Amino acid sequence: MAACLDIDSLHLALRAGRKRAARLILRGIDLHIAAGEVHALVGESGAGKSMVGRTVLGITPPGIEVVAGSVRFQGLDWLGLTAAQRRVHLGRDIALIPQDPLTALNPGHTIGTQINDVLRLHLGLDDKQATARAIELLDSVQVRSPATVVRQYPHELSGGMRQRVLIAIAFSCKPKLIIADEPTTALDVTVQREVLRLLRDLQRDEGAAVLFITHNLGLVAKLCDSVSVIHSGRIVEHGDVRSIIDTPRTPYTRSLFAATPRYDRPADTLKPIAEEVTDKLWASAHSYDQSWFAARDTASTAARRAETPHV
Ligand SMILES: Nc1ncnc2c1ncn2[C@@H]1O[C@H](COP(=O)(O)OP(=O)(O)OP(=O)(O)O)[C@@H](O)[C@H]1O
Ligand SMILES: [Mg+2]
Repeated sequence: MAACLDIDSLHLALRAGRKRAARLILRGIDLHIAAGEVHALVGESGAGKSMVGRTVLGITPPGIEVVAGSVRFQGLDWLGLTAAQRRVHLGRDIALIPQDPLTALNPGHTIGTQINDVLRLHLGLDDKQATARAIELLDSVQVRSPATVVRQYPHELSGGMRQRVLIAIAFSCKPKLIIADEPTTALDVTVQREVLRLLRDLQRDEGAAVLFITHNLGLVAKLCDSVSVIHSGRIVEHGDVRSIIDTPRTPYTRSLFAATPRYDRPADTLKPIAEEVTDKLWASAHSYDQSWFAARDTASTAARRAETPHV
């Protein structure tokens, strides 16, 4: 299968402040998604899931920057592009489905205006064409009365409806890659199931690849082809979903499964992740940081020496 997204040895660091040492947030992430593949990135809170997605979208918070590694989108050196060059692809070839639909939609504009903006910018449609297409798109995500909804504001819709609108916007330009960052955590369980089914159906119809960021392993089994498990900015295990679920190789993945609620098991069988498992991972992440920064300092000193002419 053709490659869609290739992330190799990606290191992301929080820049050192006056009183703080620099800290690695992502430590050598390797992640590969083929065209049309749905790949899950799972891990507990703070593991670095969103930072992977944000690096691909080029929206890391201030002070956090890529310090090593590469990201290729359909073979294109993505990190080598300027922000303006990336913007041409964002929303058209790479789209985001965010976690919280209320904050992602502009409260001051109608749903129609927000969909039309994307269609005009990326597909060059005029107002009339864009509105007709917006209604079609809302219909495709099973929004009832789409011709009315295009004239409504976000606060007039339910959470599930708003998330459908965002899915419609994400799919509007037939993107090659969709980054779905916890797209259903703001929804209740029944709406969650409908929205995920819709997402999977659209993904199959359109053939888009998806990076599905979640901490819910139950969703991974239903929706995804392959999975990477991340802890403290490192991928601890990856593979196809069935083999990772049936035979997780690392203690961390096993603990993560044991800590995931399941309908077919009583709640008292849930086990919190053992401290010794995470302590070991944190300690090894810390020593990784020290040796990585030391190696980088040695390399830059050697490079400076090589540049200094001998007298
Ligand atoms: N704005 C920020 N400034 C500095 N550090 C940040 C910032 N945002 C996140 N971090 C740090 O980056 C690390 C990874 O955060 P990230 O948001 O990717 O976690 P996550 O796996 O998505 O967690 P969650 O499941 O809670 O969304 C965390 O250790 C966090 O403290
Ligand atoms: Mg996150």
